Amino acid sequence: MRNIILDCDPGHDDAIAILLAGQKEKINLLGISVVSGNQTIEKTTRNALNLVSFLSIDVPVAMGYKDPLVRDRMICEEIHGESGLDGFTFPTYDKKIDARNSVELITDLCLKNEKVTIVATGPLTNVGLALKFKPEIKKHIEEIIFMGGSLDNGNVSPAAEFNILCDPEASHIVLSSGLPVKMVGLNVTRKVLVTKEVIERMAKINNKASDLFVKLMKVFNENQAKTFSNFIGGPLHDPVTIASLLDDDLVNYKHMNVTIDLSRGPSYGRTNCDVYDYLKQTPNCYVAMDINVKRFWDIIEEGISYYE
Ligand code: BDR
Ligand code: CA
Repeated sequence: MRNIILDCDPGHDDAIAILLAGQKEKINLLGISVVSGNQTIEKTTRNALNLVSFLSIDVPVAMGYKDPLVRDRMICEEIHGESGLDGFTFPTYDKKIDARNSVELITDLCLKNEKVTIVATGPLTNVGLALKFKPEIKKHIEEIIFMGGSLDNGNVSPAAEFNILCDPEASHIVLSSGLPVKMVGLNVTRKVLVTKEVIERMAKINNKASDLFVKLMKVFNENQAKTFSNFIGGPLHDPVTIASLLDDDLVNYKHMNVTIDLSRGPSYGRTNCDVYDYLKQTPNCYVAMDINVKRFWDIIEEGISYYE
């Protein structure tokens, strides 16, 4: 069973990633480090605390920095709403934020465990900072798997995907770390669409996790439909990372060289994936190429059914 640290910015799809990662028999979730992204750091941290309380997932939750490393902060209110998790109202809980910040939590958990997988479903600010702050954690990192980037076009500019564009410089640190890195980009996550049929299927489970899923996905879909003209169902980006750890055959990856466009031009934040090895550079990233969509929804159904 893998030890994982989930670094996230909940966020509707991050919430479902947390739900999958909370299945104790399948994953040893060591902690959650929160990053600014879909909403401000105060809001994404509050959402993470609410989610673990609601799902009774007993792990430390730490708060990250309020800004990216170099660029100005971006948020994604048009999709995730004013709270960052519009659509679900939580009771008031008394779970407290961990005394360590996100970077300290990541470095502590890495140093205390022989092998750790870092799963990142938000901008890579915390992960990039942790690698710079304590490079000795590298010995303990089995791999880093992140949702972000794209083999083809972006979702916030023609070239860039949101998580990468939020912090391109931190993404560069991760990709040039020399560690095994997996990228789950839009070219794959756009294949797992939360259609009306998916919502109906999950509603039938009829437990607290399905209630959470249904309520969150309705708002997620409404906002996606307003933002993207070709709407069929909202892409459930973030859970693909955890699902790929739960089933080795779910996603197929290709090893290649990936760099981030750090120029401040129109392609700032683009993940340049050298699929055909034009540049003859050393491969540094396993890029998700395809996904078994049917199996993915089975994994989501199993994850929701895990809760009472
Ligand atoms: C990514 O951006 C965020 O809005 C989602 O939570 C996901 O991590 C998709 O581009
Ligand atoms: Ca996210």
